[in-house]
Amino acid sequence: MTPSPSSPASSAGSLPAPKRITVPWVAAAPQRGERLVVVTAYDYPQGRTADAAGVDVVLVGDSLAMVVLGHADTLAVTVDEMLHHVKAARRGVERALLVADMPFGSFHLGAEATVANAVRFLKEGGAQAVKIEGDRPELVAALVHAEIPVMAHLGLTPQSLHKLGGFKVQGRGADAAGELVAAAHRAEDAGAFSLVLECVPAALATEVSAALEIPTIGIGAGAGCDGQVLVYHDLLGIEERIAPRFVRRYAELGVASREAIAAYAADVRAGRFPSEDESYGGGPAVTAPGTAPTSVTSGAEIQKLYG
Ligand code: KIV
Repeated sequence: MTPSPSSPASSAGSLPAPKRITVPWVAAAPQRGERLVVVTAYDYPQGRTADAAGVDVVLVGDSLAMVVLGHADTLAVTVDEMLHHVKAARRGVERALLVADMPFGSFHLGAEATVANAVRFLKEGGAQAVKIEGDRPELVAALVHAEIPVMAHLGLTPQSLHKLGGFKVQGRGADAAGELVAAAHRAEDAGAFSLVLECVPAALATEVSAALEIPTIGIGAGAGCDGQVLVYHDLLGIEERIAPRFVRRYAELGVASREAIAAYAADVRAGRFPSEDESYGGGPAVTAPGTAPTSVTSGAEIQKLYG
């Protein structure tokens, strides 16, 4: 169901946004006429930043492989690597719903192995749901049966890169469009609470959004979806190797970071850093050996350690 452009964020009769976003709250967004905001994040500061910005859903995407680990595609990343980052993001996300992406290979060996891998994301990683790529209603049903909420993902599924022959727009032409609509219904019927639509014609995404009860979350799928998702590093201009048409950069942190580090390098080389204010006075070390606390819990305590 697609919200009209004029839908207010909290239309009459809708519930106030909860202190912690839940799966049912996300699933009911179209009924409230609210658009969902989803962004990826891969560690503690990114999770904390996205959460503080007020997004609804933080997705630890397998795009981790590309934008953080430097691979050319998403295929290489493992469950253990994903889990490491889900745990880190979890420490930064308090309010948004945290969703973990099932990486390539983690759901290809049957329902039992799929559920076992997904359980790790909830039990060890603290995720509240998983995302799974492709037309796999039987796996969606198995996960939902195991109390694991599922975000489905159709259209361009990057894990199918080799089968698709590249990162190409999907669902063009009547047959492909019909197949995508049918797969979207299968995902909803199997119990998915939301559906990512990646790189499909805007008109098709609008049609799917109108046909489903659950929210569609678009990336390269036009404005007719019930929500949008962008990759953190794309949105902030950190990923500079590729610039898909659907990305809007809201900052140029890649450029800003390079400039900042170059300024630091210039200051060090010219003897301008550190200044007297950035240095300690006095003689021997202020903390006697053996008296330093072994663990710290707050920013204030950490600051104290630095005098
Ligand atoms: O891995 C990812 O970041 C994703 C989003 C782009 C939907 O799947």
